[in-house]
Amino acid sequence: MAAPWRLLLLLLLLLTLAPQACALTSEPAPRFRNLRLEPNELRLSWDGDVTSGSRQVHCQKGSNSPVRAPRRRPYCTFASLSLCHVTNFSVFLEEDPGSAAWIQFPESDTDRASAATDLHCWVHDVDVMTCRWGRGPGADEHAQYRMWWRDAALGRDRDRECAHYDVTDAQGAHLGCRVDLATLLPTHHVTVTVTGGGASCSDISVDLQRVEVLTPPVLAAVCNGSEEARLRWEMRSHFYHSFQYELQINKTSESHFRALIPGSASFRVRAKPMAEAQFSDWSHAVRLDCAPAAAERKHVTVMAAALAALGAGLLVLGTLLLCRR
Ligand SMILES: *[C@@H]1O[C@H](CO)[C@@H](O)[C@H](O)[C@H]1NC(C)=O
Ligand SMILES: *[C@@H]1O[C@H](CO)[C@@H](O)[C@H](O)[C@H]1NC(C)=O
Ligand SMILES: *[C@@H]1O[C@H](CO)[C@@H](O)[C@H](O)[C@H]1NC(C)=O
Repeated sequence: MAAPWRLLLLLLLLLTLAPQACALTSEPAPRFRNLRLEPNELRLSWDGDVTSGSRQVHCQKGSNSPVRAPRRRPYCTFASLSLCHVTNFSVFLEEDPGSAAWIQFPESDTDRASAATDLHCWVHDVDVMTCRWGRGPGADEHAQYRMWWRDAALGRDRDRECAHYDVTDAQGAHLGCRVDLATLLPTHHVTVTVTGGGASCSDISVDLQRVEVLTPPVLAAVCNGSEEARLRWEMRSHFYHSFQYELQINKTSESHFRALIPGSASFRVRAKPMAEAQFSDWSHAVRLDCAPAAAERKHVTVMAAALAALGAGLLVLGTLLLCRR
């Protein structure tokens, strides 16, 4: 009497367990097989069953923030990658960091001690990129270094060599380069490589906008009669186009301030891109004396300058005349 009931219970149990068992086996843990780097495409690729559109695949280069793989594609693309420094590339499912697979690229770097150290570049004076590096501690004393640059999206075959090495150490090794920005633009993202010293190289990826040290605006100020001063400034950058300005006016002749009659004043201006927090340095200060007598004094000053050519004694006379007015 009990046997058929037990059979029925067992059957029910099997029926309720079955769908769960199926669910567990129909979605196996994804595997990232044959992980490889395709340097010319700046791609980390894999074979395998990780194509599910619902599961987000992330790739990570070194300690940088992860990037997402395009939907249903077995690869991630990076904005740049190093061909010199051994870097850890990993791929994993966003919700399951335990799924990670990783490789190193390039695989080895046996001669790092000879390679250039501390390679860094910055943009300054609007039109110039300067790069500096140090001699590798393991480089022999006759080592020579050469610097190359290319669009970060392109391969080594597009490298161009530095045309102006501007720092050389006592043993004659190049340790710096100056690149005219006009030769880089319109590229904003370049890879700079230093070879030499040994078999290894050093490279960095440079976002030109981020490394720009803003050049202060160029300020010009003139008196417009005794009524007003005309200030004009020009700000230049190849990477920012919208600025906020701060103008500083120091009044020296009066204790109050009227915009239209500046009297004696000095001015300077600085700028910052709208979206940034950091201002450029101040421009040079420009002094003006727009007092009513300015026009006459200017005349005398010119005369005094002309007299100066005749000798110091006459110059003193000219200055005395100026002071007596
Ligand atoms: C590379 O990165 C993965 C994931 O972050 C990590 O598990 C692995 O240990 C790293 N390998 C090396 C050699 O650092
Ligand atoms: C002053 O500015 C006016 C225009 O506002 C111009 O016509 C005049 O020539 C200027 N004077 C001087 C001395 O620059
Ligand atoms: C204004 O005065 C301050 C304090 O003396 C000085 O640091 C600054 O350079 C002056 N600015 C100009 C435009 O001359």
